[in-house]
Amino acid sequence: MRPLTPLALVLVLGGCAGRQSVLDPAGEQAATLHGLLGLMLIVCGIAYLLVLTFLAAALWRGRRRLNPEPAATSDDRQLNVGLTAWAGLMTLGIFALAAASFLVDRTLARHDEQAAGDIRVTGHQWWWRIEYRDPAGRGWIETANELHLPQGRPMRLEIRSADVIHSFWIPNLSGKIDMVPGRANHLTITPQRLGWVRGQCAEFCGVQHARMALEVKVDTPADYAAWLSGQARVAAPPQDPQAARGLALIATGTCGSCHSIRGAGPEARAAPDLTHLASRRSLAAGTLPMSRTALMGWITQPQALKPGAEMPASNLPPADVLAITRYLESLR
Ligand code: CUA
Repeated sequence: MRPLTPLALVLVLGGCAGRQSVLDPAGEQAATLHGLLGLMLIVCGIAYLLVLTFLAAALWRGRRRLNPEPAATSDDRQLNVGLTAWAGLMTLGIFALAAASFLVDRTLARHDEQAAGDIRVTGHQWWWRIEYRDPAGRGWIETANELHLPQGRPMRLEIRSADVIHSFWIPNLSGKIDMVPGRANHLTITPQRLGWVRGQCAEFCGVQHARMALEVKVDTPADYAAWLSGQARVAAPPQDPQAARGLALIATGTCGSCHSIRGAGPEARAAPDLTHLASRRSLAAGTLPMSRTALMGWITQPQALKPGAEMPASNLPPADVLAITRYLESLR
């Protein structure tokens, strides 16, 4: 076998980076867990290599025994020393891991104590409802499928489910936590690196479990505040007759019986809030990148794109689909 060339090594290690990877921490909790993972790998790696070494030695000695030479007299003593050393080493390894695990747990708990609880995330089949406490004190600001977090601030998330058990997991930022119906769990995240990472539901929750992704953006505190005040605004009024017709179709048709658009009429809460839909990066919980084509396709044939999703086909004429898309595109 040829040894790994530097290029191959770079490619292999490149697989460790990425926007959905526990091996590329972008937050304090993930970095703490990454340290524990490293220690576990080292301890277990050493134990594994030792087992293989002893196995090889045993095989070699076994082959020698097949020869008619007399057995060495010191075998028993050597075996005793070897077993004692082995037991000592294993005990040491287990204690090291237990102590590290305890310290990591305490570190995570300290983050929890410092955190502010301003965000609620609720799992649905198959999307994420996200609510932010309004800094201006006017209740909660709702959005969906895209989580924004401020850099360097411990944020305590309240995690719930509206239907089945999901699992909230943003590998680059933190460990996972179950979303259990009828129960509120809590998770603290302290993001450190600016930019986008990706979360994913980590508990099988039905046919579209795989298409339950979460876009996550870490902003500077100033950008985060600006983004949040943008989300707090009600929807902009339609700017042209086509968009106005789109809004009328949404309000009077089936869209408005599930979705809400703050300030524009529809107020149902069964499906993702659309107030600032076009400001989001993707559609249908990471299923499609946000674009006019994606919006039109999703309105027309959602079941072809995400079979089993609650969104029904619209059966609207193309002109109506275009008008609705036109309006939705203005919801920035
Ligand atoms: Cu939600 Cu898997």
